[in-house]
Amino acid sequence: MSNIAVADRNLTFDVNAVRRQFPVLARLIRGRPLAYLDNGASAQRPAAVIEAVDDYERHHHANIHRGVHTLSQEATALYESSRDRLVEFINARSRHEVIFVRGTTEAINLVAQSYARPILKPGDEILITHLEHHANIVPWQMVCEQTGAKLVVAPIDSSGDVHVEAVVSLMSPRTRLLACAHVSNALGTVLPIRRLIAAAKARGIVTLIDGAQAVSHLHVDVQELDCDFYAFSSHKMYGPTGVGILYGRERLLECMPPWQGGGEMILAVTFAKTTYNSLPNKFEAGTPNISGGIGLGAAVDFLLGMDRDAAHAHETALLEHATKALGKIPGLRIVGTAKEKASLVSFTVDGVHPHDLGTILDEDGVAVRTGHHCAMPVMDFFKLPATARASFAFYNTFEEIDRLAAGVERARKLFV
Ligand code: ALA
Repeated sequence: MSNIAVADRNLTFDVNAVRRQFPVLARLIRGRPLAYLDNGASAQRPAAVIEAVDDYERHHHANIHRGVHTLSQEATALYESSRDRLVEFINARSRHEVIFVRGTTEAINLVAQSYARPILKPGDEILITHLEHHANIVPWQMVCEQTGAKLVVAPIDSSGDVHVEAVVSLMSPRTRLLACAHVSNALGTVLPIRRLIAAAKARGIVTLIDGAQAVSHLHVDVQELDCDFYAFSSHKMYGPTGVGILYGRERLLECMPPWQGGGEMILAVTFAKTTYNSLPNKFEAGTPNISGGIGLGAAVDFLLGMDRDAAHAHETALLEHATKALGKIPGLRIVGTAKEKASLVSFTVDGVHPHDLGTILDEDGVAVRTGHHCAMPVMDFFKLPATARASFAFYNTFEEIDRLAAGVERARKLFV
């Protein structure tokens, strides 16, 4: 049994009991047990999430906020109770601050178009870092093109770390917004966001944190972080795809115009004038992903119901084990060796293209992501076309990592 005991805090984590709650983990892939190490791309769902979605689809589906009939009332109650659980999960001040969106990408685009675009003047600056996912680069480039503002990029060092002083030195009187990842999807770096947010706040700079890779690993308390916006996706935290959350400080959300127009976000419409709905509905035009939102609420329950400190300790142990096991393989280079990392390892192997590596690992039932990880500037920085990336969840085991290392060794022997 691959339990780990966290001696100093007397916590135990029964990984096999956790695994039994994830039906897909029982699958065989090409005759081998699935070793799912692609959680950074999308995490698997526990039965509780699948069942919550199934129950809604079978018994409660109707459109929400629109009907006096029983099904509509039930669907609305289920959906809105998910919002309440998300308020608790990130410690928002109120449900006005929790906006349902399609995912992190949509959340960032919403802020770019609804917060930034109306205030940006030519010569204003948006500050990001070199390790951002494309979703936290392109929306800012688009809004810069629309307004004449400038994108400023803070450097990373050769280990993939972001230094607070380097970012702060680029904050200027023209900086209107700092947008950065909480955890890098390509390198695993955990950014020093508390200090970055504090430095930005001291200069009156609004902050947006891309939390897509963080919420499944770390406690996120938006009041303690004191950020202005925090974006994340359901499917990376064991919920369904196609739904996510934009947290926004109410004072800012109140002043922002709606991003999309349509049903739900209005109070009254005439051809002469439309008045907008209050928060959070002002930003939720159209029929949402109702079952996804309900599934996300179940994912939050699942996470809040587990010992997250023990789960985190297990993930940290997995990272240490993988770093050691992969580090022994000749010609293998770990890309991203920051001091503080979430549980993922990006790597290359001399003489083996990452895509070949991914294909060979799949023959062994081991799923990893290969490619540029939607972070081409990171690949350019390390002068690489691509890496292989193993990203772990609390349901992964040391044995799966040993299978990863054995598969990489097999690939190396085939190619080198
Ligand atoms: N952003 C996701 C990843 O890193 C898709 O794989």
